[in-house]
Amino acid sequence: MSTSFRAIGVIDYKDWLNPKEFSYEPQELRDNDVEVKIEACGICGSDIHAACGDFGEPYAPIAVGHEIVGKVTARGPNARFQIGDRVGVGAQCDACNSCKRCRNGNQNNCKHQVYTYGAIYKETGKPAQGGYASHVRVNSQFAFKIPESMDSNDVAPLLCGGITAFRPMLTYGVKKGTKVGINGIGGIGHMAILFAKALGAEVTAISRNDKKKELAVSLGADHYIATDEENFATKYEDSLDLLVNTASSFSETAVDSVLNLLAPYGQMIFITAPPMTDTLTLSPFQMLLNNISVGGSLIGSPKDIEYMLEVAAKNNIKPMIETIDISEANVKTAWERMVKGDVKFRFVLTGYDKYFGN
Ligand SMILES: NC(=O)c1ccc[n+]([C@@H]2O[C@H](COP(=O)([O-])OP(=O)(O)OC[C@H]3O[C@@H](n4cnc5c(N)ncnc54)[C@H](OP(=O)(O)O)[C@@H]3O)[C@@H](O)[C@H]2O)c1
Ligand SMILES: [Zn+2]
Ligand SMILES: [Zn+2]
Repeated sequence: MSTSFRAIGVIDYKDWLNPKEFSYEPQELRDNDVEVKIEACGICGSDIHAACGDFGEPYAPIAVGHEIVGKVTARGPNARFQIGDRVGVGAQCDACNSCKRCRNGNQNNCKHQVYTYGAIYKETGKPAQGGYASHVRVNSQFAFKIPESMDSNDVAPLLCGGITAFRPMLTYGVKKGTKVGINGIGGIGHMAILFAKALGAEVTAISRNDKKKELAVSLGADHYIATDEENFATKYEDSLDLLVNTASSFSETAVDSVLNLLAPYGQMIFITAPPMTDTLTLSPFQMLLNNISVGGSLIGSPKDIEYMLEVAAKNNIKPMIETIDISEANVKTAWERMVKGDVKFRFVLTGYDKYFGN
């Protein structure tokens, strides 16, 4: 068991695109905790928002990364895994387990939860550090057994992106024939196409232009809408039951036009976590005249994540990934390319043993 972990992250938010290595003293290993030696970590859109200060500047240095896969190297006496087990960790690493939300199984909405990065452990005042690091320590309730058949690099993006894409479909009750639209075909959007198809939905990929058409169709999308096409909102009106908005911002989304794609009683659920200063403007009349609703969705509970992994394993769901070995220079490159939208569709950091040692 180590008392110091190595990580790569933001030292100064003003210079966020120059991530650097640092060491930190982890949270003490509590009775239910596991320590995980990391082997792969996906790069989520939230990593970029958090690193550049879109979500505020909670502390520095900060290591982001919450699509983690690795092996258990230490455990508290009551942890639910053994040394050597391969587990995944998503965007949440702890919850209070005593509030009404936790008792109802909605730990992902616990107001006392600890996110895998960007949050402080109340008991110790220590900042949580994410998966661009040699190890991570988490409450084992938020670590998940990875199905044998799944490769660590392929499964990593599912730990945040996969569950986030899948959860609104569970809430809506997507089944064979449900008309599901996915707006924003990035890391999470492309996984949303895969999950919606696995549930039997008729899927429409919606993107700001037609550049991703071929790829979206190759992922299984039945239809494609480019929102720079004039009159798309009337041409395709009433074509969707559920619209999952996975864009990283609303700044280039014509919300009124996209909502026009919903049939009466349709729902738009956004998972978009835009910069904190962004607001969303909605027309009440558009909602009431069409009986449509708009809501949000945050990751998923531990039970949801376990179910998502089961569905992914059964349907052989594999995100489209580009692996890149972890180093200061490569994290910089990956982040710069993410900002430009130059990745199909998820980076996964690999080569942890090479960089951090065995
Ligand atoms: N709710 C949750 O629990 C949760 C969990 C994880 C992540 N998130 C959030 O989900 C969002 C997407 O994450 P991701 O990993 O999929 O990011 P991503 O890979 O960067 O993809 C985002 C997509 O959004 C679209 N987009 C980019 N800039 C835009 C703009 N200015 N206006 C409108 N659309 C834009 C692009 O799609 P097109 O080119 O196809 O238009 C892009 O591919 C982020 O905001 C992230 O923080 C939320
Ligand atoms: Zn994420
Ligand atoms: Zn709670």
